[in-house]
Amino acid sequence: MSRRLVALYRSQLGKKVVVAVTGLIMVGFLVVHLAGNLKVFLPDPEPGVADIDVYAEALREIGVPFLPHGAVVWATRLALLAAVILHVVCVLQLSAQSRAARRGGYAERRYQRATWAARLMMVSGLTLLVYIVFHLAHLTVGVVEPDRFVHGALYYNLYEAFTRWPFVLIYTVGMAAVAFHVYHGAWSVFQTLGLDSPERNRLFRGVAIGLAILFLVGFLSIPFAFVSGVLGPPPSPPEEHAGILQAGFATPADNAPSEVQR
Ligand code: HEM
Repeated sequence: MSRRLVALYRSQLGKKVVVAVTGLIMVGFLVVHLAGNLKVFLPDPEPGVADIDVYAEALREIGVPFLPHGAVVWATRLALLAAVILHVVCVLQLSAQSRAARRGGYAERRYQRATWAARLMMVSGLTLLVYIVFHLAHLTVGVVEPDRFVHGALYYNLYEAFTRWPFVLIYTVGMAAVAFHVYHGAWSVFQTLGLDSPERNRLFRGVAIGLAILFLVGFLSIPFAFVSGVLGPPPSPPEEHAGILQAGFATPADNAPSEVQR
């Protein structure tokens, strides 16, 4: 069984399946991430604390006390990291194989259109990798502007970044890469796995376009809402934020406010 799995992984079809499945996992993450981020638009559930901050803390509380604080978030991070690595490694191996096949002089012209699309996928994929590293440094680790970042105060961090155009522009480029990559990726998954047919193609293309538009418009609504003033400043100053949030999560027995842990 495990030998068969290894053989499948080594085959071209196996690698395409890995690219498709890991891509699907990341699209699933993006749908959940978008839904969570859109909580910036919801009213504050209690005075002084934004809904998105309560949500982020609730995510870290999943499984407590049976699991340590943040365990499920960390498990998700590791699964995503594995998905990104497998996705990139298999894409690089597949593209090396197809380059080697073309060097053999096989049907050069037929490949030209496909090669352009593949190049654009490489460019958008690389842009996405750079974007993800920047995004984690910016909004998860907080090292891009440490004096404008507070761990766990998501609304404050978003407000600080997106009331300035350079951040809005960086995220716009990132989301354009997401939209193109998801559109073309979803579309080519159907084709490379042999699922396409004249009757189904309209539906597949519709799904691919729908996902791309959902991510582009959904994610970009956040920076543009801040920079245009639709979303205002955070409901409490960052130095009070952790205390208010922690008090909201405290059980009657543990009522001492403390720093929000990561
Ligand atoms: C305008 C668009 C986006 C906004 C406003 C946004 C916002 C955020 C925020 C506030 C966090 C920190 C969450 C926390 O500390 O609990 C975060 C984490 C993250 N974001 Fe985004 N995000 C956006 C787009 C994206 C995209 C397109 C991707 C993937 C390609 C992505 C991937 C991630 C990942 C992997 C994390 C780390 C999650 C973690 O801390 O475990 N984000 N994002």
